[in-house]
Amino acid sequence: MSGPRHHWNDVYAKKATKAVSWYQRHASRSLAFVTASAGWATPIIDIGGGASTLVDSLLERGFADVSVLDISEVALARAKDRLGEKASRVTWMTADVTRWHPPRQYGVWHDRAVFHFLTEIDDQDAYIAALRSGTAVGAAVIIATFALDGPDQCSGLPVQRYSSQTLAARLGAPFVLTDQAQEAHTTPWGTTQNFSYAVFRRAP
Ligand SMILES: C[S@@+](CC[C@H](N)C(=O)[O-])C[C@H]1O[C@@H](n2cnc3c(N)ncnc32)[C@H](O)[C@@H]1O
Repeated sequence: MSGPRHHWNDVYAKKATKAVSWYQRHASRSLAFVTASAGWATPIIDIGGGASTLVDSLLERGFADVSVLDISEVALARAKDRLGEKASRVTWMTADVTRWHPPRQYGVWHDRAVFHFLTEIDDQDAYIAALRSGTAVGAAVIIATFALDGPDQCSGLPVQRYSSQTLAARLGAPFVLTDQAQEAHTTPWGTTQNFSYAVFRRAP
């Protein structure tokens, strides 16, 4: 077996949740941007959510319509196990976002460290097509990538680095940049990775 699904299942099968470079105990920056953009009933999706605890925090705060999509069923199983019976309050989807047809439109689209793995133009275009069809006008789109001075690979894969401006240019006109932040993420082994967070409002 090969391909991204195999790669990511293998990563999650071999490494403990707290041993991956992107591990965060609390997804604080993401949570702040999501909660600033959503009401309790807003449909929220975490793209490539993996084993992130963002979903736990959203449920704790009473958000009632939360979905998590990931290419790795092993990653999603980790998150479901951690949540226990609360997992039934979440819509889980195992899918490759570049081949996924959103079943509905979301009011918040969150992605931390997924889009930057798409280094082929066709894959980026497919992601953006899903983003366009999966967001309602007025939706918030929160995307965190490695910053221009961040690492050029992650988990053995090359990444495309962005600033909020270069990401805005890549996403195109319907996505209007409304906020941004830089974050120096500390890996479990103490190194620093610079992330760029960009928040967009979906225009008509
Ligand atoms: C670096 S991890 C970040 C996980 C999570 N967003 C976080 O911040 O903890 C990248 C995640 O994206 C998922 N992923 C990678 N490529 C994907 C794709 N094409 N479609 C959906 N998920 C993907 C991986 O399985 C992994 O969970």
